[in-house]
Amino acid sequence: MSSSPSDRHEPFWSGIQHGIGPFPPDAHRSEVVRHSGGIRVVQSESMDVNGKTVVVTGAANGIGRALARRFHADGASVVIADRAETPLLELERELNTRRAGSAHAVLADISTELGNKTLIDSARQTFGRVHLFFANAGVAFGMDLEHSDESDWNASFDINIHAHRWAARHLIDDWVAHGDGYFCSTASAAGLLAQIGSAPYSVTKHAAVAFAEWLSITYGDRGLKVSCLCPQGVNTNMLNPPDTPRDNVKNIDVRGGDVVRAAGAVLEPEEVADVVAAAIRDERFLILPHPEVAMYEQNRTADREKWLAGMRKLQRRIFGAA
Ligand SMILES: NC(=O)c1ccc[n+]([C@@H]2O[C@H](COP(=O)([O-])OP(=O)(O)OC[C@H]3O[C@@H](n4cnc5c(N)ncnc54)[C@H](O)[C@@H]3O)[C@@H](O)[C@H]2O)c1
Repeated sequence: MSSSPSDRHEPFWSGIQHGIGPFPPDAHRSEVVRHSGGIRVVQSESMDVNGKTVVVTGAANGIGRALARRFHADGASVVIADRAETPLLELERELNTRRAGSAHAVLADISTELGNKTLIDSARQTFGRVHLFFANAGVAFGMDLEHSDESDWNASFDINIHAHRWAARHLIDDWVAHGDGYFCSTASAAGLLAQIGSAPYSVTKHAAVAFAEWLSITYGDRGLKVSCLCPQGVNTNMLNPPDTPRDNVKNIDVRGGDVVRAAGAVLEPEEVADVVAAAIRDERFLILPHPEVAMYEQNRTADREKWLAGMRKLQRRIFGAA
């Protein structure tokens, strides 16, 4: 039996009118969108966090702490969330000393939907609307197939990707109703390329990039702004875990640091926060504090066989021959 084109079910995307891209090509702030009734130019205001409410997860340490300090310095009210209580409360005190009543700490475990909902409810009760949500908390668990157990995989999925989905789920109705909102996630260069040594990290960071892209495609015309932060090495506890013996090879926390350092420059969290602040002001989707990652990604898509061979070579250099 054969079927003519008209017999076939149309793919679900066939009815979607695609945006025809930035216009002019290097302008981030206007986009020509084609609809059934013609085209319309979507002009977006530049994002200014002054006077806005910004939520940052994983804010007790590292990149999240630097982001919270930076948004706060730029005039935002910040809701800082983490499961590490002592450094979280220290940061809350620090920020409220600078500007009374401008920071609210929420001790939260974002590895569950309830943890994300409770955080968002608490942010709204304290400051009203959430304007920008930064899904930044992440873990680097698991290594190869023999050294990643179910708990590594489950925690990686829950924290590195499901948390983004749960947060967006509880934010989106308000954002669509108001025609504005900003979701930013911290994925990783590993989400564009690969994390040598860790399957759970590679897979969940790729999923985080895919989810951020999907959000932008699906809700961008309804006012949602989305950015995705994809750094390479950053000088945080994730790269230099405190008090972890180097012969503990269970998690990439230990050897992962060697991998990331071998791949290139290691930035300070404050440098990353500066790049993020500029990108969010411009409402740019992809945030690459290490600009060379754009070239690595181009290499990957241009010639995947060559790129894979290069990654295997880098792996041999770090871990030795198999
Ligand atoms: N450091 C790097 O080289 C690097 C590179 C690329 C991407 N990243 C990503 O940057 C993000 C921040 O990492 P970092 O380098 O600042 O590491 P970090 O370990 O210093 O900070 C991560 C924070 O997330 C918190 N956290 C983890 N699980 C949580 C949970 N279930 N609930 C609440 N809080 C939780 C931790 O307590 C910690 O304070 C992560 O998503 C990480 O994957 C880091």
